[in-house]
Amino acid sequence: MSSNESNDTLTNRQGHPVTDNQNVRTVGNRGPTTLENYDFLEKISHFDRERIPERVVHARGAGAHGYFEAYGSFGEEAISKYTRAKLFQEKGKQTPVFVRFSSVIHGGHSPETLRDPRGFAVKFYTEDGNWDLVGNNLKIFFIRDPLKFPDLVHAFKPDPVTNIQDSERIFDFISQTPEAMHMITFLFSPWGIPANYREMQGSGVNTYKWVNKDGEAVLVKYHFEPKQGIKNLLQKEADEIQGKNFNHGTQDLYEAIERGDYPEWEMFVQILSDDDHPELDFDPLDPTKIWPKDQIPWVPVGKMVLDKNPTNYFAEVEQAAFGTGVLVDGLDFSDDKLLQGRTYSYSDTQRYRVGSNYLQLPINSPKKHVATNQRDGQMEYKVDMGKQQNPHVNYEPSILGGLKEAKQDGKDHQPHVEGKLVRQKIDRENNFKQAGETYREFSDLERDELIMNIVENLKKCHQEIKDTMVDMFYKCDEDYGKRVEQGLKNAKMTDTKAESAVKQAENEGHSTDSY
Ligand code: HEM
Repeated sequence: MSSNESNDTLTNRQGHPVTDNQNVRTVGNRGPTTLENYDFLEKISHFDRERIPERVVHARGAGAHGYFEAYGSFGEEAISKYTRAKLFQEKGKQTPVFVRFSSVIHGGHSPETLRDPRGFAVKFYTEDGNWDLVGNNLKIFFIRDPLKFPDLVHAFKPDPVTNIQDSERIFDFISQTPEAMHMITFLFSPWGIPANYREMQGSGVNTYKWVNKDGEAVLVKYHFEPKQGIKNLLQKEADEIQGKNFNHGTQDLYEAIERGDYPEWEMFVQILSDDDHPELDFDPLDPTKIWPKDQIPWVPVGKMVLDKNPTNYFAEVEQAAFGTGVLVDGLDFSDDKLLQGRTYSYSDTQRYRVGSNYLQLPINSPKKHVATNQRDGQMEYKVDMGKQQNPHVNYEPSILGGLKEAKQDGKDHQPHVEGKLVRQKIDRENNFKQAGETYREFSDLERDELIMNIVENLKKCHQEIKDTMVDMFYKCDEDYGKRVEQGLKNAKMTDTKAESAVKQAENEGHSTDSY
């Protein structure tokens, strides 16, 4: 540090002390400015680049740090019977986590009261490297084939001409996507607007695998249950909050953690043997289906506590990068097609959104030994050599030094794969049954709200879209179909009456649009 500096002296990124941060350098005090004014150019050029591309989905989010604590068993059984993943083995073992909650469709500063699934992404910094569980609050998804994801998102995003979200575009797509009926039933009920991030559930949605030391696998689904309870909003409650505060979810999370009221979730796992389960009326790899709790119990395996706010939103929350491919030893993929499509998409978008060395950023980097032969690329700021002594050897194998392969801990899981290469739907689509069950399980208030929200959005749509949707609601449940159909008829009558009242007022010369 030079003699004119102290600990709080402002410098530029070259380390030059800044002696005047108020005036650009000019010819005389009225200008013009000069181009050799490096301090100014550096400051403004960095500012010009402050934004990175938003996430294409889940752009609006809030995050926090905390820990996961394992219960060390699977009910009465040793958890090692099912998985060798180290973070679950020992009772009381803590693993640091970073969690990002989000809404899906709209941009980075959109209101947090919108009807939308909520993201629930957890990064576990385990001793074996990172594990990302990239989930949502709802337990199912709209589609089961990843090829449809860009179309799904386009239909829900604003119209490319008007830049306005349009329920006709949404229902146009949904009316041709019957597997979405279950998700739509949740989304248009109060479950489509969680009150905040603390009082909502989390779910891995997709089916994964657990693998034990003998390489044997089971199918698993993950769930998080909030100790704070679950709270959803009616549309009118959401409208009231939105009128006053469009950051209420972020604020609620931040303030709770600041006052020491740390939110906590219990983690549950459901297990099925690793086969296609012909006895079920759905495919266990189908992410549009809930695994019924009464047939496949939820077993608690640990708890997660969030006890520290980010110190910088951009560095930690915005640059955080989660992906479904990020698993540790003892955890594996299933053949769930949606999961496999997602696994390509996340790291692909993050190389574009954050940069090719996004994994070197502290929020994304494992909190353990990292040593690779990857070199260079935009914004590389360290060489991942680990403690190896020979910087000339950035390849493997080598007898001159360099990095060596690790020893395998347990047996590989080696599923047998055989079949024709096809483009085909799965056999047990069963698109309507669970949607009907969910409809019947809702309280009266939830059902009333669901019908009201659907009618409100569907009434503006093309007649053919309305007819197809009503037909599908009937297939879910007779009462569901009847109520939407009746609601649409009533809405049409009300709208016709309102239109004729306006016409009559115009004919009678009562103008309403001028003072
Ligand atoms: C974010 C793709 C389905 C949960 C994203 C992002 C992409 C993406 C490209 C932005 C990532 C980033 O910029 O860092 C897909 C594709 C899907 C799919 C292709 C289906 C084929 C799902 C499902 C869930 C989900 C089923 C819930 C289980 C999330 C979450 C985020 C996210 C929580 C935000 C992660 C964060 O907070 O950074 N998704 N997604 N997605 N997705 Fe998906």
